[in-house]
Amino acid sequence: MAIAVVLVLLVIGSLIFHFASPWWFTPIASNWSTMDDTVILTFWVTGVVFIAVNLFLAWVVWKYRHRKGHKAKYDPENKKLEWWLTIVTSIGVAAMLAPGLFVWGKFVNVPEDAAIVEVVGQQWHWNFRFPGDDGEFGHSDATLITPENPFGLDPDDPRGSDDVLVASPELRLPVDQPVKVLLRSKDVLHNFTVTQFRVKMDLVPGMITHMWLTPTVPGSYEILCEELCGMGHFAMRGRVVVTPREEFETWLAALPTFGATQALAAADPAAGAGLYAVCTACHGASGEGNPALNAPRLAGQQAWYIRRQLDAFRDGRRGAKEGDVYGAQMRAFAAMVQDDTSARNLAAHLEGLAAPQPQATVAGDVDRGRRLYANCANCHGHQGEGIWALNAPRLAHMSDWYLVRQLQNFQHGVRGTDAGDYYGWQMATFADALKDERSINDVVAYINTLDPEPVRTARKD
Ligand code: CUA
Repeated sequence: MAIAVVLVLLVIGSLIFHFASPWWFTPIASNWSTMDDTVILTFWVTGVVFIAVNLFLAWVVWKYRHRKGHKAKYDPENKKLEWWLTIVTSIGVAAMLAPGLFVWGKFVNVPEDAAIVEVVGQQWHWNFRFPGDDGEFGHSDATLITPENPFGLDPDDPRGSDDVLVASPELRLPVDQPVKVLLRSKDVLHNFTVTQFRVKMDLVPGMITHMWLTPTVPGSYEILCEELCGMGHFAMRGRVVVTPREEFETWLAALPTFGATQALAAADPAAGAGLYAVCTACHGASGEGNPALNAPRLAGQQAWYIRRQLDAFRDGRRGAKEGDVYGAQMRAFAAMVQDDTSARNLAAHLEGLAAPQPQATVAGDVDRGRRLYANCANCHGHQGEGIWALNAPRLAHMSDWYLVRQLQNFQHGVRGTDAGDYYGWQMATFADALKDERSINDVVAYINTLDPEPVRTARKD
């Protein structure tokens, strides 16, 4: 008897939960309302079956409960009932699945007038490409990827030179324009999802997959990766901003083409050495850094990272936060770097500088630090050498006191909170994993033992 009551309460509770709960679809912002319709239809079919089956079960439990003197009748076969159940179940399953096939039929047929955009996924961020004036994408290949050609486009393919590159995780799309989205991955499986668009698709290494949609509501929507793709999966975010067409065109016109990025002269470290003269007062003649002036070591740091930080200081994504005293100082000096060419030359000079490993100033438990560093090694490398492909700078042989301060800055929201500082935000989420001051010291003490350029011993045959 008690079980029958529990079953009825289960049905009533589920119904109340379904209708009274605050959780429902996010407001839709694309043409795919049919996706919602099929999901709601599925709710109806499974909901009716759930109620009917459980109430029937409760009735059976009550009606055929144990009573003195009553004996159960064994009835193993009932052809008529089995036919009925087969037919009703088939109709229910068909009602759930058939409408989905019509929606899928629309999903795999891209409209003629659709524009195209490419989504490039990698651990752990998004980039985008538009086809340019010719309306066609140039050929791409993962083997062509370098810091100068992060999209891996083929320089010999003339269709690629007008391709427009969006080297940031923020995409813009014009409202009410059907768009075919081509997707490719540089490394592992990812999945491009914007919940408000209702459609999503996997990015598969070695393949170009696609989907299409028409954004219908201007606004800013978060891009999620919905395929477990490693340590930073949860932090693989981006944004799609849907705007009126004119706004979109203005944004697009300001972006560089692949041809323009390839036409840049190679960075000139000698020219960078001239520019560096201003920086030596704090950072030292050979970029060795000076803790007394709060100036970290720069010698040997990767050029792409120095360039990115200079850009961030120049446009206020870094160093503008209240409480960031040393960042504010650096902002004033970064403003003296006139243009991108200067920044590139300066960064190339610093990467080439050799200075002896700085004196250790941080003490900690190296063994404990090694265990904590296992997480950091996923991006920064096992020797703290820094990995460009993961946007993780070199840590080994850098100023240890500076690493401690930056970890604290990330934890305290002094760094990595600016909306435009995507990688800083990612690092802040990882820095939070170091629970206390002691953990920071331990991990930095371990980094002090690493060698970013280990001497490779000759293999013995
Ligand atoms: Cu990319 Cu998860």
